[in-house]
Amino acid sequence: MLCATLATLLLAIAANGSPTTPLRRGTPQTVSLTSRSGGKGSHPLILAPIGVPLADYFNGTDLQWYGDIAVGTPPQTISVVFDTGSATLEFASTLCGAPCANQTQFDPSKSSTYVDGGSNFHIIFATGVGVDPVVGDNYELTLHNATDTVTVGGVTIPNITMYLITDQTPAFSPDPFSGIQGLGPVASNLFAGLEAQGLPSLFSFYLTPKAVGNAELTLGGIDKTKYKGELTYGNLIDPVGSESWQLNSTGITVNGKSAPGLKKLRTFIFDSGTSNIVLPLADTEAVYAAISPKIKPFANENGTYGLPCSEVHSLPAEISFTFPSQEGKPFTLTIPSSEFSVGPFNSDPSTCQLLINAFQDYNIIGASLFKHYYSVWDLGNKRLGFAPNVQ
Ligand SMILES: *[C@@H]1O[C@H](CO)[C@@H](O)[C@H](O)[C@H]1NC(C)=O
Ligand SMILES: *[C@@H]1O[C@H](CO)[C@@H](O)[C@H](O)[C@H]1NC(C)=O
Ligand SMILES: *[C@@H]1O[C@H](CO)[C@@H](O)[C@H](O)[C@H]1NC(C)=O
Ligand SMILES: *[C@@H]1O[C@H](CO)[C@@H](O)[C@H](O)[C@H]1NC(C)=O
Ligand SMILES: *[C@@H]1O[C@H](CO)[C@@H](O)[C@H](O)[C@H]1NC(C)=O
Ligand SMILES: *[C@@H]1O[C@H](CO)[C@@H](O)[C@H](O)[C@H]1NC(C)=O
Repeated sequence: MLCATLATLLLAIAANGSPTTPLRRGTPQTVSLTSRSGGKGSHPLILAPIGVPLADYFNGTDLQWYGDIAVGTPPQTISVVFDTGSATLEFASTLCGAPCANQTQFDPSKSSTYVDGGSNFHIIFATGVGVDPVVGDNYELTLHNATDTVTVGGVTIPNITMYLITDQTPAFSPDPFSGIQGLGPVASNLFAGLEAQGLPSLFSFYLTPKAVGNAELTLGGIDKTKYKGELTYGNLIDPVGSESWQLNSTGITVNGKSAPGLKKLRTFIFDSGTSNIVLPLADTEAVYAAISPKIKPFANENGTYGLPCSEVHSLPAEISFTFPSQEGKPFTLTIPSSEFSVGPFNSDPSTCQLLINAFQDYNIIGASLFKHYYSVWDLGNKRLGFAPNVQ
C-alpha cells in the first residue's frame, strides 16, 4: 500500500564510498548494577525510569511510533523512531537541505557542545518505514558523524556519538519524524550513557494501535499498568555478539493449527522498526496457504501478497508463534485476525495487502505483533519478555 519509508536493519555503513567497512556497533559496556548504590561517589546519580510518550505514524495501518529527544546546547528537539533493529542515532540536519525539507533539522552551528567528527558514512536499511518491501537501496541515508549532548525525559547525557543526515532517498520524505534512535542489543551511545548514570539495563515498549493511543517507551523500567497478567520471558540468542534481538521459535500455527512447513526451528529477529512481519518465501506461502488458497502474490510489488479487500475481513487469520520460555515451557504470541490486512495497494485499491512480506531469508517480527503485547527488552538479564497489552 503506502510508500514504505523507514527502515530498520542495519545492513552496512561504508565510510566515504570506500570499500564497505561495516561500522561496528558501540562497544558493549558492562555496568555493574551494584555501582548504582553510589557508595564511593563516582556515580552519584541513580536514575528513575524515564517515560517517553510515543506518537503513531499511521497511514492506512500503524507504521512507526516515535518520540522526542533533544540534541545539543541549548537543546533542539528532534523526533526519532526507537528502533530495536539498528544501533546508531541519526537524524535530519541543516547539512541536508532539500531532501530533508519535510523534517525538523538539527542545526549544529547553534549548539555550543557540538563536536564535528569529520567523516561521512552511508546506511542502508533492510526494511522500510512502512509495509512496502525494500527495493534495492531505496532506504539509504548519507551521514556525517559527530558527538553532542542528548537529553531524554529531562536527563542530559554528554558526548553521545551521532550521525547527522546530509542526504536521504525520497522514500524518507513523508516521514513525520526526523530520525532513528537505534536500540539494538548492545548498550551503545544514548543507552550506554543512561546506564553510566545508573539506569537499569532494560527498556519496555507499549506500542498500540492508533485507536488505543498512549503508546510509550519506558527507558530503565517496566510500566506495570500497561499489561495484563505476568510477563513471560525467553532467553536471548547470543546477546553479546548479536546485532539483533533474537529468540528461537519452535513453530508457527495458523488459527491454532500447524500445517506443512510451519513446525520447524526458526530464529526470529524482534524489530520495533519493522511495521509488519517478514518471512522467507516458502514460509510466507505456507502460512498463506493455511489461511486461504485465494491469497496471491501481488505482481506489482515483489514480496507482497494480496486478497480482494471485500474478503479480507471475513477470513479467520490468527497467526501464532511459539517460543521456549526461560523456564523451558513453550509460550505463544498471537497476532489477531484484525491485523491480517495492512490496507489497500496504491496501484489496485480493490486488493488489500496482507501482513507478511517474503524477503530473502529474514524472519522478522514487527509491529503487527507488538501492537498487542507489552514488551520488555532486558539486556542486563539477556532476555525478552511479553505480556498482553492493556487496550
Ligand atoms: C500515505 O499513503 C499514501 C498512499 O501511499 C501516500 O500517497 C501518502 O504520501 C502517504 N502519506 C504520508 C503522510 O505518509
Ligand atoms: C568520526 O568517524 C571517524 C572515522 O571513523 C572517527 O575517527 C572519529 O573518531 C569519529 N568522530 C566522532 C566525533 O565520532
Ligand atoms: C567522548 O566519548 C569518547 C568515546 O565514545 C571518548 O573517547 C572521549 O574521550 C569522550 N570525550 C569526552 C570529552 O568526554
Ligand atoms: C510531509 O509530511 C506530512 C506529514 O507530516 C505529509 O502530509 C506530507 O505529505 C509530507 N510531504 C512530503 C513532500 O512528503
Ligand atoms: C537456539 O537454537 C539453537 C539451535 O538449536 C541452539 O543451539 C541454541 O542454544 C538456542 N538458543 C537459545 C537461547 O535457546
Ligand atoms: C522477489 O522476492 C523473492 C523473495 O524475496 C526473491 O527470491 C526474488 O529474487 C525476487 N524477485 C525479483 C525479481 O526481485
